[in-house]
Amino acid sequence: MESSELKKIIQGIPKAELHLHIEGSFEPELLFDIAKRNNIFLSYDSIESLKNAYQFNNLQEFLDIYYAGAQVLLHEQDFFDLTWAYLTRVHSQNVVHVEVFFDPQTHTDRGIEFNVVIKGIYNALEKAKQELNISYKLIMSYLRHLSEEEAFKTLESSIPFKHWIDGVGLDSSEMGNPPSKFVNVFKASANQGYKLVAHAGEEGPVEYIWEALDLLKVVRIDHGNRCLDDEALVQRLVEQQIPLTLCPLSNTALKVIRKMEDHPVLKMLDKGILATIHSDDPAYFGGYMNENYYETALALNLDKSHLMQLATNAFKASWLSHEVKEKHIVQVKDYFNLTDI
Ligand code: ADE
Ligand code: ZN
Repeated sequence: MESSELKKIIQGIPKAELHLHIEGSFEPELLFDIAKRNNIFLSYDSIESLKNAYQFNNLQEFLDIYYAGAQVLLHEQDFFDLTWAYLTRVHSQNVVHVEVFFDPQTHTDRGIEFNVVIKGIYNALEKAKQELNISYKLIMSYLRHLSEEEAFKTLESSIPFKHWIDGVGLDSSEMGNPPSKFVNVFKASANQGYKLVAHAGEEGPVEYIWEALDLLKVVRIDHGNRCLDDEALVQRLVEQQIPLTLCPLSNTALKVIRKMEDHPVLKMLDKGILATIHSDDPAYFGGYMNENYYETALALNLDKSHLMQLATNAFKASWLSHEVKEKHIVQVKDYFNLTDI
């Protein structure tokens, strides 16, 4: 397929984004603007020099810069602007549904109140629902490099806003911070009615994926790249149709894989795994949904049926109601079958 044709096809697919850290959508231009209006001094003297720092050898090197960038976010308006910028951008890529992570502890640990963070994000999501026709779910993520006790404090802070929050996740430094560290807080989160997901098997071993499933009882695995190391795990993922939210540009940027041609998504689809493609931290990894689809399709020589499968899988894996999922899946099928592509 011609690359311009591939781009055109991808642009037109109605897409669902299920793995997106809102703090990871913080584009350098907006970061500089917000830093300026909040009178925060940045150690980078230009947008260009900040962008030049986006070279990572592993997850931790990225996280250090990502947490530093988030420090310029102080006010409700800042969180609103960050979220609104993301939503308008993905609207232009024909993303029609988003399930967005936010990291409350990245902000509450700096003295920013939980309510300031969530109100800004929530108001932008609501505005996008009204004005851009983008549906959404909101996922509060616990930082796994911190203690379970601190995650419990975050859970407590979330209770007044629980009608705005659909689920909880687990992110940050994976190695040495296994899912088993958070069994109690995940149980308590489920008791509050939150759905459960966790990052597992991004850098960490397959054991972390097993723990996320068996101990935390998550309904979806974020990343899960390492699952192919374990045939029994693959069988479990296939039998129970547990989704894996993969992020190809993140994986190359963080050296989880050496090059895009090594990405496991095609092997996963061939095995019957409910694999999906997302953008993780698009401002840092060189692309949003379309770019992730495009680079993956190019490197792995994906055809239209793969693209249709990936788009369909994302709606299947979403937390939309059965009826709404079906409506989107029909639209994806119609797009591929009825339009001249
Ligand atoms: N937080 C933001 N992006 C992340 C990633 N790719 N892995 C773990 N934690 C994250
Ligand atoms: Zn992630």
